[in-house]
Amino acid sequence: MINWQQFGLRSNPYDTLPLIEGGELPIDKAFVGRSAELQILKDIFLSDTRACLTILGNVGVGKTSLINFHKFLCKYEEKVKPVFSFRREIEASTHILNKYSFLIEIIGSVLREIRLLDPELISSQNLLAKLERLVDITQTIGISGGVHFGIGNIDVAESSMNLPPSIPVTVLEGYFADLVKFIINTKIASRQFRGLIIHVNNFDILLSDAKMRKEVVCFFQEIRDLLQIPNVYYFFLGPIPLFRDIISSEKRIKSMFHLTPLVVNPLSKLEVVKALEERMGLLKSRDVAKFISPFSSEVIYKLYDLYQGDVRSIMNGLKAILSQVSEIVLEPLGPNEALLLLGKERWHSLEALSLTDEQIEVLKILATSQEMITQKDLAKLTNKAPSNISGYYLNPLKDAGIIELKKKKGNLKYWGLTQDYIPIKFILEAKKIIQQKTEENMQQLALFT
Ligand SMILES: Nc1ncnc2c1ncn2[C@@H]1O[C@H](COP(=O)(O)OP(=O)(O)OP(=O)(O)O)[C@@H](O)[C@H]1O
Ligand SMILES: [Mg+2]
Repeated sequence: MINWQQFGLRSNPYDTLPLIEGGELPIDKAFVGRSAELQILKDIFLSDTRACLTILGNVGVGKTSLINFHKFLCKYEEKVKPVFSFRREIEASTHILNKYSFLIEIIGSVLREIRLLDPELISSQNLLAKLERLVDITQTIGISGGVHFGIGNIDVAESSMNLPPSIPVTVLEGYFADLVKFIINTKIASRQFRGLIIHVNNFDILLSDAKMRKEVVCFFQEIRDLLQIPNVYYFFLGPIPLFRDIISSEKRIKSMFHLTPLVVNPLSKLEVVKALEERMGLLKSRDVAKFISPFSSEVIYKLYDLYQGDVRSIMNGLKAILSQVSEIVLEPLGPNEALLLLGKERWHSLEALSLTDEQIEVLKILATSQEMITQKDLAKLTNKAPSNISGYYLNPLKDAGIIELKKKKGNLKYWGLTQDYIPIKFILEAKKIIQQKTEENMQQLALFT
């Protein structure tokens, strides 16, 4: 348990959840950078009355936070086109991959947001009250059918239970169109909006399964007409291949989308330092004059290089380092000390994996080598039969997520540490240096005797 109060903080500044409207950290204060991306979005919203955009980038780069911030600006900022949105993102999962469930998710999310911002509207407006009942019923069917909320197309007639009949998808589409009209014709929480944003998050998970690709393409084909509804702005977030492999794979789908995806790159080093400073400022205990930064900026820079700008991994690393500090931290930790502690934490985490002494020996060789290593090199270095190397040593280390195949050249496979375990290099190298220094000192001492 890390005591955040010793730094003058109320709670953990390295929480890795995306920034979101209504979250622990106020998004308008905690969000840094991205002015170019926000300007692109603002321009698209101003020039087009509907849009379909893909927001692409590596894991943890800040896609969800960017879109949440843009949604926040559209909802509350005076100088931005006012467009309504719901804070709860729709998760891209197998459950929503059909028009019916997708519509139910959207309608349910919009109603929930209206309930949060302007609950009176739900009871006073017939359309909203009716839609809320509809979502409720569908939810009940979903739950009693043993499936996830919002799953549609359940063949009620075949169900042994006495369930209300399902609503045809065309009727649902009509309701959705009515809801969009309602949003642009009625003030919500005293604000007049000019459209609706629909934010579908995390296509990474679906696309990591090659078998799902076809289903995702079918989904986009099926919802093609929804994508053309005026005043609706869609954001689909995911990995780089989402545009290349899915959207561009079919002309009929691609023509619905904005020509260029918005690719989100890592924040700069300075922006990451700034983001972390902002967080600490926001979480400062009320009774202290100033918080104490646990780390110098150099530590953040080192972790930035190590994790290639992935803010989530950087913050997890910082937390892991602090979990290793038992004494009170008076001065911010410097890079050498911090990386050693990170190495120590990673090394301790290996203990839970009950590796054999020989597997640890192989791991140490891999971790201290300057180059990637092949199976043949390992056999030579450990005096073991090459045929045993992969079965007994490499595969278990790979399965535990400690090492990975880095490169293949002909028959040769090159192995190295995964990003998560690279820090064990630091502790092993430090041990090596201490050992060398001790030997040198012993030799020097011997000269005196
Ligand atoms: N512009 C920003 N300013 C401050 N913090 C940010 C910013 N962008 C991202 N973060 C922080 O970085 C972390 C990762 O961000 P986020 O969850 O938005 O990334 P992501 O690309 O959506 O990740 P994933 O691929 O896992 O969905 C979060 O803790 C978030 O608070
Ligand atoms: Mg995300």
